Amino acid sequence: MRRGWILQVILIGLVTGGIATAVAVIPNWLPRDASREEGRIVFVFWFVTAICIAIFALVSAVIVFSVLHFRAPADDDSDGPPIHGHTGLEIAWTAVPTGLVLAIAVVSAVVLAKNGDAGSNPLRVDVTAQQFAWSFKYPKQSNIVSGQLRLPLGRTVKLHLQSLDVIHSFWVPEFGQKQDAVPGLHPTLVITPDRLGTYPVVCTELCGLGHALMRTEAIVMRPADFDAWARQQGKALSGPPAQAGKAVFDSEGCGACHTLKAAGSTGKVGPDLDKLPAEAQQAGKPLEEFVRESIVNPNAYVAPGYPKNVMPPTFAQLPKPQLDALVQYLIQSSKGGS
Ligand code: CUA
Repeated sequence: MRRGWILQVILIGLVTGGIATAVAVIPNWLPRDASREEGRIVFVFWFVTAICIAIFALVSAVIVFSVLHFRAPADDDSDGPPIHGHTGLEIAWTAVPTGLVLAIAVVSAVVLAKNGDAGSNPLRVDVTAQQFAWSFKYPKQSNIVSGQLRLPLGRTVKLHLQSLDVIHSFWVPEFGQKQDAVPGLHPTLVITPDRLGTYPVVCTELCGLGHALMRTEAIVMRPADFDAWARQQGKALSGPPAQAGKAVFDSEGCGACHTLKAAGSTGKVGPDLDKLPAEAQQAGKPLEEFVRESIVNPNAYVAPGYPKNVMPPTFAQLPKPQLDALVQYLIQSSKGGS
């Protein structure tokens, strides 16, 4: 009879454990990881989930079995038989959870330590968060600045974060970790991308009206492509103004929102930059002053038909040589284009 009971408990446990496993595995709860750090985090996640499913199966099996076999008849008002403890059981239910929690702690500590280790030669990227945009500077790659986070595959990267105004939080779901950018603090985050692709960069701390729009892309490239991109950006920055300006235009992603024939861009979110001279006239300002102001203080004059607060104010922090180059480039190309 006892053997029959144990078999029943095991059977019920297999069924409830199977259901719990299906719920854990079948929907894609997690994004496909794209960094070594996230790979380790996913391992911890499944390690803990497996333990939880095992405990759930055991507990639910005993409960279901008890409900089926020890149900009191409807008219039975008597108390159950008294129980005075069970030393063996008590030792087991203390020792087993202690062992499990310790195992989770050790695995988590190892993963945390590994994920915080940038190795001896990480690629440094300075991340600046501001209402409501991200910008990424590469100090070892001639200080190029990019509106997208471009990373070489397989190289460990150390992000140095800063915020210019309020608290923002850096998050690429496929890279797993989140890091707050707090004004006055300089936190770091280690990422080793291990899958090519383009992933969303999300601000995950409510930071004002434009919070939901504070997004850009993380682009994981082949190392050779990354080097070529960095070289080309760096060279363009030190080249003649037109070339340098075009490099800034491209790296800041201006073409995503603006049309400019000279740059081959066809964005329609913001005003057509080939019409800058006419816009300057309408605003009643000299062309150069108008272009510069529109970049660093976009709400000073908003072209009719376009809403305020759409153009990010972050370009105000472009280093001066890059800003100058961009202004000159826009003036030259818009004059040539009209
Ligand atoms: Cu920045 Cu939310």
